[in-house]
Amino acid sequence: MVLHLLLLALSWAERAAAAEWSEGSERDLVPSLPTVGALDFQLHSGYLPVDAASGRALFYLLAEYEGHEPVDRPLLLWLQGGPGCSSVGLGAFQELGPFLPDFEGENVSTAGLMRNPHSWTLAAHVLFLDSPAFTGFSFSADNTTDRRWGDANVTADHLAALLAFYERHPWLRGQPLFLAGESYAGHYVPLLAAAIFQHNRRHEPDWPIMLEGYALGNPWTDPAHDNAGAVQFWYGEDLISADTYRGLLAACNLSATALWRTEGESGVGGECAKHRDAALAEAGGYQLYGVNAPLCVLRPDGTPQEPQPDWQDLPNPLYDPCSHHRVRAYMRRQDVQEALHAIQPGAQARNWTECDARAISYEVESLLDSMLPVHRANLEAGMRVLIYSGDTDGVVPTLGTRSWVEALGLHPAAPLRTWADKQTGEVAGYVSEYEGGLTFATLHEAGHAAPYFKPSAALQLIQSFLNQEPPGAPAAVS
Ligand SMILES: *[C@@H]1O[C@H](CO)[C@@H](O)[C@H](O)[C@H]1NC(C)=O
Ligand SMILES: *[C@@H]1O[C@H](CO)[C@@H](O)[C@H](O)[C@H]1NC(C)=O
Ligand SMILES: *[C@@H]1O[C@H](CO)[C@@H](O)[C@H](O)[C@H]1NC(C)=O
Ligand SMILES: *[C@@H]1O[C@H](CO)[C@@H](O)[C@H](O)[C@H]1NC(C)=O
Ligand SMILES: *[C@@H]1O[C@H](CO)[C@@H](O)[C@H](O)[C@H]1NC(C)=O
Repeated sequence: MVLHLLLLALSWAERAAAAEWSEGSERDLVPSLPTVGALDFQLHSGYLPVDAASGRALFYLLAEYEGHEPVDRPLLLWLQGGPGCSSVGLGAFQELGPFLPDFEGENVSTAGLMRNPHSWTLAAHVLFLDSPAFTGFSFSADNTTDRRWGDANVTADHLAALLAFYERHPWLRGQPLFLAGESYAGHYVPLLAAAIFQHNRRHEPDWPIMLEGYALGNPWTDPAHDNAGAVQFWYGEDLISADTYRGLLAACNLSATALWRTEGESGVGGECAKHRDAALAEAGGYQLYGVNAPLCVLRPDGTPQEPQPDWQDLPNPLYDPCSHHRVRAYMRRQDVQEALHAIQPGAQARNWTECDARAISYEVESLLDSMLPVHRANLEAGMRVLIYSGDTDGVVPTLGTRSWVEALGLHPAAPLRTWADKQTGEVAGYVSEYEGGLTFATLHEAGHAAPYFKPSAALQLIQSFLNQEPPGAPAAVS
């Protein structure tokens, strides 16, 4: 009866999740997807309860390992940044997961999906989690309190969701766990790693979480280093004027601002905001998330132009400048939302958005916190860490990441060297290995979503990290 009353008080989405809470993993199985058909690998998705009192549940998608190694594979949890971007929508459907938007000759607003030939499921079981609540399909029955977030309570929800996930899929408790993410996951991931240590220590659970390490791509980590890297990159790449460059350096306290953040609290104000806005306007003709890639051509109403130009020189043949728009069109389909267990059969489709900074408000102190002490503590606790950086990203550029990695003060274990994509033999970037378990690697000609720009090299990089092998050496050239 109590449950019945609860269900009456909740909307369709909350009801769907409440029903999930009492069910096992079978119910989450996704046997097929619209435009793809029957799946030849195991895919599960649904809601994980994180707070029964407020009716908060996070949406997840588990794509099982598809490779051929006859050994147990690790579980890799992928967290997108934002705050407010969907790991499922971006990570699983247009970056490193089993699917990419199918764009060949298609109308952007009627897009489908295709399989990703460089999916990270060739290296691990990959779990995508939409967080915090009101990101992607994740929700809460409490739509006021649960829209305000900071690093501490987001981390608590990540841990709660992970524990709920292990309850739903207990067989994965036996596999090593790795965390990964990009952008604002530069906060989510090291903080979750620290919370997992505490969980294992404090609760001495029957099943300690078998966390071995984490990988971060273009991670927002420390405002002083990351902002300085961005300002230098914008000027060095000839994206902004000398006046704007000098204005930013003179007017902005780089330790106290999040220059990339244009919505919500960012610490950017006054003269600094003037120069930041000038910088974004001057650089506006470029794809700041990867300056070697073209922008999707939009109509005045903000919808993509049909057809798009016949793009030449894309970062890879499957790169799609309009991928966000295509995935949005796909994810808003009612049959897709039903197939993913995001809504109940027959329910009205939700107005899904890949990144919605306005749906939540995020504590500015968290945004401006430095993660360097957290990395140091995690390394001391024995974590293996891979920091990778797409070197054409203008949002969290390589320059800033290099600078904070050096500031950690670790001893180099080997001299800096180039590494190669084994498929092509070409240089894929450079790698610096440090004592104490940290590797820093660049992905040459890759942007913010580095695996989407250089999928073959990114897959090899994550594979080598999980397998504890150094990234491939390039062939000798004369
Ligand atoms: C694209 O699809 C939409 C929705 O079906 C339709 O309204 C539009 O006319 C199509 N555009 C083109 C160029 O085919
Ligand atoms: C919260 O939900 C109520 C009931 O569905 C709705 O009327 C209200 O507008 C929502 N508030 C916000 C901030 O979305
Ligand atoms: C999360 O923490 C922030 C910052 O401390 C706070 O403002 C917010 O109310 C908290 N939200 C929830 C759901 O606990
Ligand atoms: C810049 O911000 C930091 C962090 O809030 C603060 O400690 C410092 O005093 C500020 N510097 C100046 C020159 O205002
Ligand atoms: C869907 O969401 C977008 C962006 O969040 C918003 O602009 C649009 O008005 C919404 N559409 C509907 C039908 O609610």
